[in-house]
Amino acid sequence: MSKPRLDGKVAIITGAASGIGEATARLFAENGAFIIIADVQDDLGHQVMASIGPDKSYYKHCDVTDENQVQETVGHTFKKYGRLDIVFSNAGVLGTTGSILEMDMGDVDRTMAVNMRGAAAFIKHAARVMVANQIRGSIICTASIAATMGGTGPHAYTISKHALLGLVRSASSELGKHGIRVNCISPFAIPTRMSFQADGWDQKSEAMIRAMSNLQGILLEAGHVAEAALFLASDESCFISGHNLVLDGAFSVVNHDFSVFK
Ligand SMILES: NC(=O)c1ccc[n+]([C@@H]2O[C@H](COP(=O)([O-])OP(=O)(O)OC[C@H]3O[C@@H](n4cnc5c(N)ncnc54)[C@H](O)[C@@H]3O)[C@@H](O)[C@H]2O)c1
Repeated sequence: MSKPRLDGKVAIITGAASGIGEATARLFAENGAFIIIADVQDDLGHQVMASIGPDKSYYKHCDVTDENQVQETVGHTFKKYGRLDIVFSNAGVLGTTGSILEMDMGDVDRTMAVNMRGAAAFIKHAARVMVANQIRGSIICTASIAATMGGTGPHAYTISKHALLGLVRSASSELGKHGIRVNCISPFAIPTRMSFQADGWDQKSEAMIRAMSNLQGILLEAGHVAEAALFLASDESCFISGHNLVLDGAFSVVNHDFSVFK
């Protein structure tokens, strides 16, 4: 029997108490990794840990907007488990929707603080540990189709995800000499807790997403994003860095209104 794809690796996953992070925590654990579930939802985080198994996972309260908590989470992980091979920086918030004419600058700051600054703090502290201990790690961030397109999310969210893509490219340029890979994943819309927080999103939205989707006959799920993260975390992607792996069924590269040739 072949070895599990993440055999013996230690991974921190932020935002792992629900949605994409939770699905990825389960898949990474099934593939042999030990998971640090980092989130601010303590009850849900402990439930995820209990269902994965305390021998394969550990819940750590970590608000990614607080650099001290990020440093503490990274330091605690390395001290307790002796390794840090993978960081999946996935925690995110949607922020508020609305016109740019009425943009709430406080909401811009809060959204940037989680979606971009939180990821930057994780890359900084994880890379410090990886560089100091000569670990050829893999760092993965969850971006979005809103990282390369306007009009697919609230303004502050779109700004933060564009910045996150810049962060991934910039970090990969410096960390390559240490053998550390930095990539991101950009999913299309998925029915998770976050999407249900958006104004007007309800069960009927599934039909809307299906209609908007370029790739028909399938709805994107958290598990599909987890599979992409597993690929980027594993040695199968050992020469891939600075990459934005888009999971959108070609939505962002097709002009849906230009139907002359159809
Ligand atoms: N759902 C979608 O349609 C969609 C599409 C593209 C990208 N994404 C991205 O996927 C990622 C995960 O979102 P999801 O859809 O699984 O939603 P989710 O709400 O289920 O998960 C987000 C998690 O992040 C955690 N979190 C929020 N703020 C935090 C903080 N300050 N510190 C630590 N943890 C924090 C939440 O507690 C939650 O568990 C986000 O970065 C999101 O932007 C989602």
